[in-house]
Amino acid sequence: MHLSSPTPFPANRPRRLRRDAFTRRLVREHAVTPDDLIYPVFVHEGQGRSEAIASMPGVERLSLDLLLPVAEDCVKLGIPVLALFPAIDPSLKTPDGKEALNPDGLIPRVVRALKAEFPDLGVMTDVALDPYTSHGQDGVLDQHGYIINDETVEILTGQALTHAEAGVDIIAPSDMMDGRIGAIREALEVQGHIHTRIMAYSAKYASAFYGPFRDAVGTRGALGKADKNCYQMDPGNTDEALREVALDIAEGADMVMVKPGMPYLDVVRRVKDEFKVPTFAYQVSGEYAMLKAAAANGWLDHDAVMMESLLAFKRAGADGVLTYFARDAARLLQK
Ligand code: PBG
Repeated sequence: MHLSSPTPFPANRPRRLRRDAFTRRLVREHAVTPDDLIYPVFVHEGQGRSEAIASMPGVERLSLDLLLPVAEDCVKLGIPVLALFPAIDPSLKTPDGKEALNPDGLIPRVVRALKAEFPDLGVMTDVALDPYTSHGQDGVLDQHGYIINDETVEILTGQALTHAEAGVDIIAPSDMMDGRIGAIREALEVQGHIHTRIMAYSAKYASAFYGPFRDAVGTRGALGKADKNCYQMDPGNTDEALREVALDIAEGADMVMVKPGMPYLDVVRRVKDEFKVPTFAYQVSGEYAMLKAAAANGWLDHDAVMMESLLAFKRAGADGVLTYFARDAARLLQK
């Protein structure tokens, strides 16, 4: 179609506002700040123990003594929250994952230490059994290998209470069992933990992008060829994501999450538009690995793609992002 202009020049020149840095800054709609970032970290037992994770360059499994300086760095950088993930000693893993209920287990000890040292740094913990089960699934299995919902929810509720008693600020159930947000919320209220926030992994997809994370927490081997398709969401669905989010809000979630992140920005946008609640996205291990690998090869500019990817989450409507880039990004923003 030919659009004839009434004048011999374009009536609108959008490039005017792109001409100088000051107008670009003036009209910019979205921005990333350190306040938007949640930093996931991997912890394990011991002293002075740091192990590199091959598929996640720049990320390490750390013992508590080595995590404390990282937490201090997060405080200095203005990162509001640390998210803890444990690599549990294989000798403690069982089919029912009961180590998850140990009040003196790794996560409760790390939570207590972090809250004692850095009371103003938010601490978030994952509620799911996969780091604790010998089979690497997020729940307990029946004789056919099916993940039993209601029995799993009971254990998860105990795990959440264990974390709350240790003083965690935010509980983040990542297991995708039905009804777990309601069960956890009720238990927290009954036990007087009325301030404990719940960030629900509401729309968590059965994704191949979690591979490097499973290396980091040491569940890839146990899981083998098994998948999580009977509880995590089918990547082909988005209406279902809205149903999941609606349920989690009704059951008492304070914040909801979409995971993975970049390949699911359409879901982030639909969730934010529909519910207008605090909405988060997880830029997962595989997304991080992709960007790191390309940058290491010199194919992409590390800092530029890091910041552009984080900005994309904000543009899609996310209030914040869980990202392994959190410290790098906050450091860059400080400059
Ligand atoms: C496990 C859990 C996973 C992640 C967070 N919690 C992996 C999985 O569901 O198998 C993935 C995070 C990442 O890939 O960075 N409940």
